[in-house]
Amino acid sequence: MLVPVSDVGLGDRAAQVLRRNDLGSMTAAAPRLYPHMWSWDSALIAVGLAQLSVPRAVTELRTLLRAQWSTGMIPHIVFSAGDGYFPGPERWGTQAAAAAPASVRTSGICQPPVHAVAVRRIVDAGRRAGGSAREEAEAFVRETFGAWLAWHRWLATARDPDRRGLVEIYHGWESGMDNSPRWDRPYAAVVPGAELPSFVRTDVDHVGDARERPTDAEYGRYLWLVEQLRRVGYDDDAARDVVGFRVADVFTSAILAVASEELALLGEELGAGSGDDVAELRELAARFRAGVASTVSPSTGLARDLDRRSGEWIETETVAGFAPLLCGPDDRQRELFWGERWCGHPALAHPLPPTVSPSDPGLQPRAYWRGPVWPIVSWLFSWAFARHGDDDGAGRLREASLRQLAAGDFGEYYEPFTGEPLGSLHQSWTAAVTLDWLSR
Ligand code: SER
Repeated sequence: MLVPVSDVGLGDRAAQVLRRNDLGSMTAAAPRLYPHMWSWDSALIAVGLAQLSVPRAVTELRTLLRAQWSTGMIPHIVFSAGDGYFPGPERWGTQAAAAAPASVRTSGICQPPVHAVAVRRIVDAGRRAGGSAREEAEAFVRETFGAWLAWHRWLATARDPDRRGLVEIYHGWESGMDNSPRWDRPYAAVVPGAELPSFVRTDVDHVGDARERPTDAEYGRYLWLVEQLRRVGYDDDAARDVVGFRVADVFTSAILAVASEELALLGEELGAGSGDDVAELRELAARFRAGVASTVSPSTGLARDLDRRSGEWIETETVAGFAPLLCGPDDRQRELFWGERWCGHPALAHPLPPTVSPSDPGLQPRAYWRGPVWPIVSWLFSWAFARHGDDDGAGRLREASLRQLAAGDFGEYYEPFTGEPLGSLHQSWTAAVTLDWLSR
């Protein structure tokens, strides 16, 4: 049964999640598991907030930008006054980093650059509402264009020093897909040193079953990489030499390509930035789009990450392989996406892309990024499909997602074969993308 678009009950419940997780000028990513602001969460949260209040959506992104480093990097966590999350600000030790902001506590790594996509959705919502909402949204673009440009520039220089059109990440957390099987091989080479300070995890206290979270062995590696980066003060050049994980991330690269295009368009439409800035963004978009295309496996048709330390392609069959579809129309990928190895797999509860192919025997249906369906991933594809004129594909993802979300728990992720919500419930970005889908 289709969820009627006018299902006010679902929209009301989604709005309530965002209100309850609202900390004033930032939204907690989730009530207990994630009591702070996460970079890519905050962008997608702003997409949902824009449906409720353009000024509140703008505030969300302003708060994030106050945490921007002098290098242009936007850190992956902006800490609130709340506690109960590990690793917290002390463990990150960013106060000693030369580029970190003085008055905001942050982590020292980044996350995928979806922010310009959010800015576009805020402008869309402002234009639909008209009046002061429109003025505020457009003024926000003019005010912050330079900051977003600095962020994209940092990714394109510090994280693509050889200009391959592929963003390098130094931690699985930077991909947003923390424990995806994409990272298993590079992580196998990360061996925590004896000097790794001991730690106690808190994340496993906040989910129904600890097996829905990464393992302790994985956490040891995550913390070791933090330790390596902390010791060099998160300096970009030094980090490249010391860090035990360096992977060219094809999904982040696709997001950078498409977000750079959006930012260029916004700059042009609103007279923000100079002609040179806009041209630079278009060059970035073209470079990263070409970089993504260069990774496609001739045999599987999926895009691949590249382990920069070993020089090996990473051949896992994950949703990140559809990075070219984020960048633009691609007939071969579209067929694969809707085919039996992916959304068309007969055992799926809903025709939505799980994080690992349902035909891969290694899929773990309840384990975080190793199999579950993440609504925000479905949203990114539906947004990209609509952007490229594939209204049919966008509509199919929207309808299937709204059916998946109908119960209103707003799970962090969903079991692909049963549709059960998993991880943390009342997840802000899940509620936010629901609001966006309901608005169309
Ligand atoms: N997603 C990570 C976590 O689980 C942090 O970025 O805490």
